[in-house]
Amino acid sequence: MLVLLNSSYEELSQEAARIVAATVKNKPSVTLGLATGSTTLGMYKELVRLHREQGLDFSKVATFNLDEYLGLAAEHPQSFHCFMRDNFFARVNIAERNIHIPDGTIGKDYEEYCAAYEQAIRDAGGIDLQILGIGRNGHVGFNEPTSSFGSRTRLKVLTSETMEDNRKFFSANEEMPECAITMGIGTILEAKRILLLATGEAKAETVANAIEGPITASVTASCLQLHPDVTFVIDEAAGARLKQHDYYRRVMEMTARFTPSRLS
Ligand code: GLP
Repeated sequence: MLVLLNSSYEELSQEAARIVAATVKNKPSVTLGLATGSTTLGMYKELVRLHREQGLDFSKVATFNLDEYLGLAAEHPQSFHCFMRDNFFARVNIAERNIHIPDGTIGKDYEEYCAAYEQAIRDAGGIDLQILGIGRNGHVGFNEPTSSFGSRTRLKVLTSETMEDNRKFFSANEEMPECAITMGIGTILEAKRILLLATGEAKAETVANAIEGPITASVTASCLQLHPDVTFVIDEAAGARLKQHDYYRRVMEMTARFTPSRLS
């Protein structure tokens, strides 16, 4: 596990985008696992800039998003479809046929639908690089506390904490979805490499729990301790509660000296 401490949100966004860009250049037909949430906005913005100014080519890239609210159509402004289209897909040269996001309006046969989503990931050769944010309660995707580490793509009921956190994006008279379709922890752990982004002091405790706490389904991001290739790209505020903070700084310096390829 690598913990990359950045001095600001801008720096962490650039660092994450740099790693994604290097991965795309290295393998143009890469399969990316993508996340939504305000934390990822800076990374997408930087990737769009790299596409426009440096010709970063997404034409062969395939993407699978982690999750979508149940009941929200792709056109709904709060849907993750809309988030991805507005902030990334419509601004780069990604092929429509290579974009996959769970459909929140499927309405029936969820198990069959979710199994097909898993199959599509397998058919694409698996996820090469998975981007994650982290919820205040430690969730990744919408894998709320007590999600099984063996879980696959499925329907998940949102906790009241998550609903509270995300309600601000919905208008006052609008009903907030209580469920989502999300990739499972088992699905996420099969990605070849994982990047988790976190910013701000509101995430400091959960980031410390995920990195240094016990491996527990009560903080689903702690599952990442079981993965062989995880990089936490965080800012100082999100890393403020890490006990091994100075050690991570030294590891960053030594990694840059001896195994710089791990940083790209
Ligand atoms: C939602 C998403 C998560 C994301 C989280 C954090 O709950 N399902 O994938 O990590 O939000 O969002 P933010 O970055 O806005 O704090």
